[in-house]
Amino acid sequence: MPHPKLFEPIQIGGVTLPNRVVIAPMCQYSADDGCMSDWHLAHLGSMACSGAGLFVVEKTNVTREGRITHGCTGLYSDHNEAAMTRAVQLYRGITKNPIGVQIGHAGRKASSQVPWQGGKALGPAESPWQTVAPSAIAFGEGWHVPHELSKDEIRRLVEAFVAATLRARRIGFDVVEIHSAHGYLLHQFLSPLSNQRTDEYGRNRMKFPLEVAAAMREVWPKDRALGIRINATDWVEGGWTPEDAVVYARELQRIGLDFICVSSGATVPHAKIPVAPGFQVGFAEKVKKETGIKTRAVGMIADPEHAEQILASGKADMIAMARALLDNPRWVWHAAERFGVKIDYPPQYARSHWSLWPGSKLARPRETAA
Ligand SMILES: Cc1cc2nc3c(=O)[nH]c(=O)nc-3n(C[C@H](O)[C@H](O)[C@H](O)COP(=O)(O)O)c2cc1C
Repeated sequence: MPHPKLFEPIQIGGVTLPNRVVIAPMCQYSADDGCMSDWHLAHLGSMACSGAGLFVVEKTNVTREGRITHGCTGLYSDHNEAAMTRAVQLYRGITKNPIGVQIGHAGRKASSQVPWQGGKALGPAESPWQTVAPSAIAFGEGWHVPHELSKDEIRRLVEAFVAATLRARRIGFDVVEIHSAHGYLLHQFLSPLSNQRTDEYGRNRMKFPLEVAAAMREVWPKDRALGIRINATDWVEGGWTPEDAVVYARELQRIGLDFICVSSGATVPHAKIPVAPGFQVGFAEKVKKETGIKTRAVGMIADPEHAEQILASGKADMIAMARALLDNPRWVWHAAERFGVKIDYPPQYARSHWSLWPGSKLARPRETAA
C-alpha cells in the first residue's frame, strides 16, 4: 500500500504536523469567567493521547463580551492566561504533537445559553450582556439587538485581538487560528447580511477582519503558524459567496497567513444547508486551486478512506474533524492501523495495540466481538 497522505507530515509556517489529521476547535462551555477548568484538563488530556497532528483549542475570546456563553474560554485576563498555561503544560507532558488555539469574538451571537441549556439568547435572569456588531441587526428572532460598534471601538477590538495573541504567544502555542467564520464578529463584518454600515467598514467589508489579521501577523512569530477559519458561503441568497471567500483568501495570503480552514454557514438561523459527508470539501478545493494557500477541509468527514481520498486527490492539504474525534478519540490510532502506518502511542497505553495481545495472530477481538 502506498504511504497514505493522511499520515504524511506537513509544514505550516514554521510548524511541522506529523500527520494531517487536525482536531477542529470545539467549544466546551466549561470555563469560569474565561478560565479553563478541570474539564479542560481532562479534555486536553484525552485529545493529547489521540495522535492527531494538531489539536486546536476551542474558540477563545479576546474580551469578556466576546464570549458566546458564560462558559466560553477567554484570553482577556491574567487568570485566563494562567489557567490555559496549565492545560497546555499538561498537553505537552503527553505528546510532542503541536497544539493551537482559535481566537475570536462572538459579536451579536454572544450572551447566549450553553447548548445543553437551550442555546438561545440569555434571558433577563441569566446575566445577559450587551452584544456588539458592525450593525444593530439581531442574529434572528428572539436574539439580542447588538450595539453598532463605533470606529474607536473597532480600533480597540483590533488591540484586544493583538493582546490575546500575545497571551497565546507567552503560553507557547504552536499555532493560532483566527475565527473568521460561522457568523461570529469577523464574519459579521464580511457578510452583507450582518454588515450594513455606510462608513469605510461597510463599503469595504473586509477592512476590519484584514486589520485584525495583519495586526496579529505582526506579533505572531514566523517560526510558529498563523491560520484562519473562514466561511465559503452563508447558504443564503444575497449573502457571502465562494467567490468572496477567494478574494478574502488572496488578501489573507498577502498578509502572510499560513493556512485557511474553509467552513460555511451559521450567519443567520434560517439558512438551508445541504449537509452531507464532505459537503464543504469543494470550497476548500476552490480556495486551494485559486490561491495556492494551504487549506484544511472540514465538515462531516469521519471515514479514514474518505479523508485520505480528499488529500490524495489534492482537494485539501489537511483534514479537520470535530465530532468524529469526540465520538472516538482513538480515531487516529485506528486509521493508522487501517493504512498499516505505525504511529507513537503514549507508552502507558502501548500495550493496547492489538498486535501485542497474546493470540494477536487471530482476528482482532474488536472485530470478532460484534
Ligand atoms: C461541540 C462543538 C463545538 C464547536 N466549537 C467550535 C469552535 O469553537 N470553533 C469553530 O470554529 N467551530 C466549532 N465547532 C464546529 C467544528 O469545529 C466543525 O467545523 C463542525 O463540527 C463540522 O465538523 P465535523 O462534521 O467533523 O463535526 C464546534 C462543533 C462542535 C460539535
